[in-house]
Formats: sequence, structure tokens, C-alpha cells
Amino acid sequence: MAGIRWPPKDPELSQTRVPTIADLISDDDRSVAADSWSIKSDYGSTLDDEQRHVDASDALSIGTFRAASDYGSDKEEPDAEVETSMLGLQSYWDATYADELVNFREHGLSGEVWFGDGVMDIVASWTKNLCSHISQGRMPNLDNDVKSESVQQGGKELSGWSVLDIGTGNGLLLQELAKQGFSDLTGSDYSEGAIDLSRNLADRDGFTNINFLVDDVLETKLERQFQLVMDKGTFDAVGLHPDGPMKRIMYWDSVSRLVAPGGILVITSCNNTKDELVQEVDDFNQRKLSASQEPGICKVQEASRDPPFQYLSHVQSYPTFIFGGSEGSRVATVAFLRSSNQ
Ligand SMILES: C[S@@+](CC[C@H](N)C(=O)[O-])C[C@H]1O[C@@H](n2cnc3c(N)ncnc32)[C@H](O)[C@@H]1O
Repeated sequence: MAGIRWPPKDPELSQTRVPTIADLISDDDRSVAADSWSIKSDYGSTLDDEQRHVDASDALSIGTFRAASDYGSDKEEPDAEVETSMLGLQSYWDATYADELVNFREHGLSGEVWFGDGVMDIVASWTKNLCSHISQGRMPNLDNDVKSESVQQGGKELSGWSVLDIGTGNGLLLQELAKQGFSDLTGSDYSEGAIDLSRNLADRDGFTNINFLVDDVLETKLERQFQLVMDKGTFDAVGLHPDGPMKRIMYWDSVSRLVAPGGILVITSCNNTKDELVQEVDDFNQRKLSASQEPGICKVQEASRDPPFQYLSHVQSYPTFIFGGSEGSRVATVAFLRSSNQ
């Protein structure tokens, strides 16, 4: 993470947001957060589940984790330290959604669309095409790009896909997925205000079948698994917590349990390049492999020695820019396939 690459959205596509009193109180803090203010405070962890912390600490101590800042895809040297921001704290999101609820109630505004409407449209249509391909037995591979333009087939095969959007925010991505033909849709967020907002917006916009629940993805209470798990900006937020390295390990453990065997994770990030996301998953796979090779693992568990996640495809149609001789895009969207024998 070379500085916080955290543009909330394309300014040209922004909706005007009406300031509230809370804005006036917290403007300085928020702009500092967006400028990657490094937090040295006692906010600490909000998690109750001691075991998950122990597991994550173990993984950190055996050195199978590298900070995203160490991945060299577009950097010559690793950063000195992983930067953190207020955007990694639940208190930030609670305050943000309290404001957005006021803006919704008083002005009918939908709130931030992270990375902009254009990215959200691409993510929804690209994901629809990916799932349609898979439903038809056409698994994409490295040479076979999934286009975000519409495929010809109808979306009826999509109704069989159960979808979870983690850190759903205002839930608008789920509305876009509903328009693409998905019908079994659930959104979760640890901020009650986000879920309140997303329910209100879904009701207003006529998407009354979308389920929403308050849930911390790092200590999820969801027992169900989903064929498609979406993340747009949530992994970025998790990584910005002061305990970011440990939280990211917990994230992968938790998400791997939420994606059904043979299911898909589609993750969209502006704080990690495609190569960094692939490296995150490789590190997670390596941790799982190491754990399965520990003495005492029985034969039945040997069957699960396939890597939990495998890179599937990524969006190649985002606009790119050239800076300092390197070409890149502002946002990365990458799909990973969950192993089917675990
Ligand atoms: C950058 S916003 C993205 C919101 C939405 N996905 C979108 O694209 O508009 C990050 C979201 O992740 C949520 N979030 C952060 N950490 C979380 C956690 N541990 N569990 C659940 N939600 C979390 C925040 O409340 C916030 O809604």
C-alpha cells in the first residue's frame, strides 16, 4: 500500500451530497482520514472471538503473511510500514452512515457509490457474464477474458446463484445485480446505519426481495454459504484498520467459509492491485496448506489439500493511465474460484 489509494468515486459521476451538522463536526477528521492519516490510538480491536485472533496471530508469527505493501507488482521498494486510516474503524463508518441516513431522509440521496457508478456497472455486468459462462460449463481461464458487455443468453440460470455482498454499504451493488438477473441476494455490513440505509433504498427502489443483515465479516454469524460472494471496498477498509495485517488474515479465513465449494469470490479494490490480491490469496492458500500438513491431520482431511482459492479472471476493461512509465488502472476487480472438494 504505497500511500492510501482511496478515491471514493469518479468526481464526474458524483451525486451532490448535502452537508449535515455531523459533517461540520467531523470534516477535518474525515479529510485527514482520506489523506491517509496514521492512527496511533486505543481504538484497538472490536472483536470478541479470541480464537480468531489467536489463529491470525499464529499465522503472522510463522511468517506466511506479507503486508500488501511488500508486493512488488507496481513498486520498486516495499513501504516501511502498512499505513492505516480512520476508514478502517467501525466508528468512522457508523458516523458516515448516520450522515447518509439524514441525507436520505431529508433529500432522498442514495449516498456514496464507492469507485463510482461506472465501476459499479462494470462489476455487475462482468460478474453476470462470469456466472453465466460458469453456469453454461464454460470456465474462464487466463487466455479467455470475460467481457463486461452483455452476453446474449437470458439470465434465468442466474436465479440459482445465491449472492452475498459483504460490507454492502448502501446496498446499491445488490440492486445492480438484481437488474442483471440475480434473485437470491443478501447484503451484510457491520454498521447498523449501513443496513438501515440499504433497506430503505431497496424498499424505495422496489427491490423488496433483497435480504440485509448486520454482520461483521471478520466474526461472521452467518452459517449459510453462498455461491457468489461480492466485496467492493470492504477488504480495503479491513486492511486500513490499525491491526490491518491481522484483520486481513481473519478476513480470508472468514470469507473462505462463506464461499460455497465451487463458488466464486469477486473482489474489487482500489488499495490493492490485481497482482496484490492474487498474492494475498496465494499466501492464504499457503497458510492453509501448511496447517493441513501439521502432524495429526487425518486422511479424510488430506482430500482438502487443494488450495482453497484459485485465480479465475479479472476485469480488463477499466480505463488505464500511465504514470512514471508504468501503466495501471485505478481499480482492480478479481474473481477467485473456491475449491470444490473442501
Ligand atoms: C468502502 S465502503 C464500500 C461500501 C460498498 N461495498 C460499496 O461499494 O459502496 C466499505 C464498507 O465495508 C464495511 N465494513 C468494513 N469492515 C467491515 C467488517 N469487518 N464487516 C462488515 N462490514 C465492514 C463498512 O461499513 C463500509 O460499508
